[in-house]
Amino acid sequence: MPLVPLKQILDNAIAGGYGVPALNVNNMEAIQAISAAAKKVKSPLIVQASRGALKYTNLIYLKHLMMAASEENPEIPMALHLDHGDNIESVKTAIDLGFTSVMIDASHHSYEENVRITKEVVDYAHQFGVTVEAELGTLGGIEEDITGEVQLTDPDQAEDFVKTTGVDCLAVAIGTSHGAYKFKSEPKLAIDLVKTISDRVHIPLVMHGSSSVPVELREQINKYGGAMPDACGVPISAIQAAVKNGVAKINVDTDLRMAMTGAIRKVFVEQPDKFDPRDYCRPGREAIQAQAEVKMTAFGSAGHAGDYTPATLEEYKAKY
Ligand code: 13P
Repeated sequence: MPLVPLKQILDNAIAGGYGVPALNVNNMEAIQAISAAAKKVKSPLIVQASRGALKYTNLIYLKHLMMAASEENPEIPMALHLDHGDNIESVKTAIDLGFTSVMIDASHHSYEENVRITKEVVDYAHQFGVTVEAELGTLGGIEEDITGEVQLTDPDQAEDFVKTTGVDCLAVAIGTSHGAYKFKSEPKLAIDLVKTISDRVHIPLVMHGSSSVPVELREQINKYGGAMPDACGVPISAIQAAVKNGVAKINVDTDLRMAMTGAIRKVFVEQPDKFDPRDYCRPGREAIQAQAEVKMTAFGSAGHAGDYTPATLEEYKAKY
């Protein structure tokens, strides 16, 4: 099965009433782990890489690791997605590498500038059948070099934005934030806003900052010498409610990072004689796989890998 545009996975998710986790990767273990999870639970797969991940891997290593995952799992529809592209240049780089989907995040610019930059990216990417995600509103928290105060997405603006830019899916700000410290007290999310926006824009919505920071991962890290005492995430039930209201892509990075870190810390503490990287990277990889399976099952994409005939970028190019 070829690599598919993200649009196809998301359109199928909306039709089927489920969400698909978009899982961030930085290295071979993470790519192997999420592919193995998708294969095991029969889920479509969205592999996503940030600009930081591409830099860390000199672009070319990540490209070939992603291609290896697709070659090894021909039965899994897989989209390769650029997370938080910041300008047309980063989008072009990703498309040249073979990504089937790109995010342009110009949400920190003025509305007019966000529209202009996003439209430029849509016009460019659609020539190649590549899907475009954009963002409106501002998430809180920190991810790599992105920082910000929360500013919820405005539904009127969202309707105008989608009409004017022709974007395929929209990341909305509903109170989530990137990272491991999302809430100081009770998690509060504007789930009703998801429905309002979805009814106005009629395209799949994307939820960033969707790690749940499971207590067991936090406790494992802390038990084995880590220091994440106040880490706190988005309850799975809130994500499921968002899916029912129009969210189809759910971004998860922090939980995978925590899973690997906890597993490696455990080996270092319990088996201090170990020094072969495979002795700690293997449990790290298994821990990421377990998390990915939990997300695919909870968001509902498990069991849906074989539901549809995937379209290639060429076929999507003809459609746009
Ligand atoms: P988390 O930090 O909650 O995993 O969010 C990741 C994300 O939204 C990547 O774009």
